Amino acid sequence: EVVDATGLIALPGFIDLHTHLREPGREDTETIATGSAAAALGGYTAVFAMANTDPVADNAVIVEHVWRRGREVGLVDVYPVGAVTVGLAGERLAELGTMANSQAQVRMFSDDGHCVADPLLMRRALEYSTALDVVIAQHAEEPRLTVGAQAHEGERAARLGLAGWPAAAEEAIIARDCLLARQTGARLHVCHVSTAGAAELLRWAKAQGITVSAEVTPHHLLLDDERLGTFDPVNKVNPPLRTAADAKVLREALAEGVLDCVATDHAPHAAQDKDCEWAAARPGMLGLQTALSVVVATMVEPGLLDWRGVARVMSERPAQIAGLTDQGRPIAVGEPANLTLVDPAARWTVRGGELASIAANTPYEGMELPGRVVTTLLRGKVTAHDGKARS
Ligand code: DOR
Ligand code: ZN
Ligand code: ZN
Repeated sequence: EVVDATGLIALPGFIDLHTHLREPGREDTETIATGSAAAALGGYTAVFAMANTDPVADNAVIVEHVWRRGREVGLVDVYPVGAVTVGLAGERLAELGTMANSQAQVRMFSDDGHCVADPLLMRRALEYSTALDVVIAQHAEEPRLTVGAQAHEGERAARLGLAGWPAAAEEAIIARDCLLARQTGARLHVCHVSTAGAAELLRWAKAQGITVSAEVTPHHLLLDDERLGTFDPVNKVNPPLRTAADAKVLREALAEGVLDCVATDHAPHAAQDKDCEWAAARPGMLGLQTALSVVVATMVEPGLLDWRGVARVMSERPAQIAGLTDQGRPIAVGEPANLTLVDPAARWTVRGGELASIAANTPYEGMELPGRVVTTLLRGKVTAHDGKARS
């Protein structure tokens, strides 16, 4: 088979450190098969499947199941993320070692969508992780500051009468976890950074030599709480869309490397959990098939990143953070051909119903976005081409 790449940009295959694939438990919204197709179409060759499945991925049986199913589907390398604690919002450490040494070779652990709020538990997890040389990812949210929260705490939420999710709920945990990472020498990864203050803390922590990395989502780069005005739950996400000023700081921090990479937080939800009242809706949005285009719109077009920079934030840094490369070498150099070919001149209109996910909760519905993934190759084999996934 001949792939014509005239006019296309070749990038190392994208790696998403934060994907919710919903299997097991919510196969009505996404499966490993449909999520893998979405990933391949989005230019991804590896995704890290988050642990907040039902049951929670807190043991070797579940992570091996996810890993095996990913292999069977064969469209993208599915790396299961193990839960740090047992059960939903658990208060006991899971057997990280058993999962790390299972067939799935788990190399990243995370909370299960509920922040590990207990500092002692988090410190023990970080200590444990250093012995295993794995990374601990955390959804930074002090739960006692977000009780009943419905939107970013600020002017807009106040005007709409929505209970606020303060920036401090995120920043307090990031500050605490960075100090614990310094104390333990552990590798900490901060999920979906959403505030200017959080970026400032990360800048400080990195300057101290703390081994911390951080991701930002496409939606926190592009969208802000202006969108709350419509009360459309498609815009409900956790952490919430912050202010336009926050989004600007996040874009600059990503360009600078204070934020390491883009991760989607791809979070499929059933129609009934989004087509409802704002307060009843579940937080989360699809991200795999739109991520590259949102990065082009927010980072490439304004001149904040060149294509080399896109490779860094979509592939190289995620590979380094998750330990998928040797000594920080870019993944495409000397490695099997995990490649993504992008048409930089193409523009396309997002239609949730046309995405490969079972769910359709995209905040970009009807939006015209720049840059399109044309072909994805996983170890030399075409996994997606011209809008069609193939296994
Ligand atoms: O918006 C979100 N959705 N944030 C999370 O932390 C979890 C995720 C989900 O699983 O739906
Ligand atoms: Zn989260
Ligand atoms: Zn998430």
